[in-house]
Amino acid sequence: MTRTLDLASNVAIVSGSSRGIGKGIAYHLLSKGATVYLNGRSLDELEHTFNEFGEQFPDQVCKFQGDLSKTATIAGLLKAINNENGHIDIVVANIGSGRSQMGWDIPDNLWEENMQINFMSAVRLSRESLRYMMDAKKGSIIFIASIAGVETIAAPAPYACAKAALLSYMKNTAPVAAQYGVRMNAISPGNIFFSGGTWDKKVRENPEPTQKYIRDNVPLQRFGTPDDVGSLVCYLASDDASFITGGNFIVDGGQTRSI
Ligand SMILES: NC(=O)c1ccc[n+]([C@@H]2O[C@H](COP(=O)([O-])OP(=O)(O)OC[C@H]3O[C@@H](n4cnc5c(N)ncnc54)[C@H](OP(=O)(O)O)[C@@H]3O)[C@@H](O)[C@H]2O)c1
Repeated sequence: MTRTLDLASNVAIVSGSSRGIGKGIAYHLLSKGATVYLNGRSLDELEHTFNEFGEQFPDQVCKFQGDLSKTATIAGLLKAINNENGHIDIVVANIGSGRSQMGWDIPDNLWEENMQINFMSAVRLSRESLRYMMDAKKGSIIFIASIAGVETIAAPAPYACAKAALLSYMKNTAPVAAQYGVRMNAISPGNIFFSGGTWDKKVRENPEPTQKYIRDNVPLQRFGTPDDVGSLVCYLASDDASFITGGNFIVDGGQTRSI
C-alpha cells in the first residue's frame, strides 16, 4: 500500500523563514498541508514571502514578525498560536548564522554572539515548545544544525562549536522528550545555495575557486538547495518517522567523511 505524506491538521512554526533554507522548509510544510507560521525580523522580507506563499496556500500561511532568539518573544508567540489553534505540532529551529571570524584570536563578543544565535535561540525555542508538546503528548522538533558541527571544515570555530553544542543538546534532550511522545531530531546541511545567500555571494565574488571547492569536496558535485532540506523536514515531522528521535541527518551531497 502506498501512502502519501500528509501534514494537514498540523500546525508548524519555522523560525527564520522569510528567506533561505527556512523559506524552503516552510514551502514544503505548506505543500504537505500544514498550517505554517513564517518568521523573520525584517517586515518587508516577511511580507514578501507571506504574500508569495499566500497565493498558493491562502488558508495555511501565517506570519510573525519578531526576534525568535528571545525567550519572552518565543513564549508570547507560542501562547498565541496555541490559543488560536489548540495545538503546536511541528517546530523547526532554523535561525543561525555562520558570520564570524576564522582563526584562534577571536574576541569574546563574537563567541557569545555565535552561541546566542546558533545555539541558545534553538534551546529557547525548543524548551518553550516542549511545555506545550509534552502536555499534548505529541510533537516534532527539528533543529537545523550544520556539517560544521559534525566535522572540521573551513568554518569559523565559534560557529562550528555552537552547532556541535546544538547537536549535543538535541541528543541529550531527545530521550527526555521521548517519554512524553515528543520527537527531536537535527538536520546538518552542507553547502546550500539560494539567491542572495552566502554561497550565492561566494560564487559571484570568486566563481572559479568556489566551484572548484564544490567539485573537490562534494561527491555529488553540486550545491544543496533549500528543497533538499525542506523535503527531509517534512518526512521527519510526519508519522512516517514515528520511530525516529535523537537523530542527526546529514544533507551534504556526501561531503562529510566520518562514519
Ligand atoms: N546556507 C548554508 O549553506 C547553510 C549550511 C549549513 C547550515 N545552515 C544553517 O541553516 C540555517 C538557515 O541558514 P540560511 O543560510 O538560510 O540563513 P539566512 O539566509 O541568513 O536566513 C536566516 C533567516 O532567519 C531570519 N532570522 C535571523 N535571525 C533571526 C532572529 N533572531 N529572529 C527571527 N528571525 C531571524 C532571517 O530574517 P531576518 O534577518 O529578517 O530576521 C531569515 O529569514 C542556519 O541555522 C544556518 O546555520 C546554512
